Amino acid sequence: MIKNEVARSLKVVLANNYALYLKTQNYHWNVTGSNFKPLHLLFEEQYNDLFMANDEIAERIRTLGEKVPATFNIFSDATDIKDGNENIDATSMVKELADDQGIIIESLKSTLKIAQDTNDEGTIGIITNRIGIHEKAAWMLRSSI
Ligand SMILES: [Fe+2]
Repeated sequence: MIKNEVARSLKVVLANNYALYLKTQNYHWNVTGSNFKPLHLLFEEQYNDLFMANDEIAERIRTLGEKVPATFNIFSDATDIKDGNENIDATSMVKELADDQGIIIESLKSTLKIAQDTNDEGTIGIITNRIGIHEKAAWMLRSSI
């Protein structure tokens, strides 16, 4: 029962992660301008990490005994990350993605608190690792503007 609280919170993390994965790939495809190449590559590096993280987070939810709701409708209802817009300029794309990394960090930190309250070390390890990765991703994005 207590572990379900962690799983419920991880479902929000998964929705955010999946949404940012799609958005980062959108911007990888659609970015334009004089910084095209480095941004195209940075976005690729980041969506690859987010892709792997989708699996890690989902399988942690399964490990905690819950099914993983995984449809576009469910993710779009649960996420706080707004859809990408392929027509904005490169700087706006980078700013949005940096802010979105912050949104994921917030959802990870609130999940971390619940995992700490329930001594769920397995989840704590995954989440702590993800927070560091998102903080680094946000730094790389902000430094690209
Ligand atoms: Fe590509």
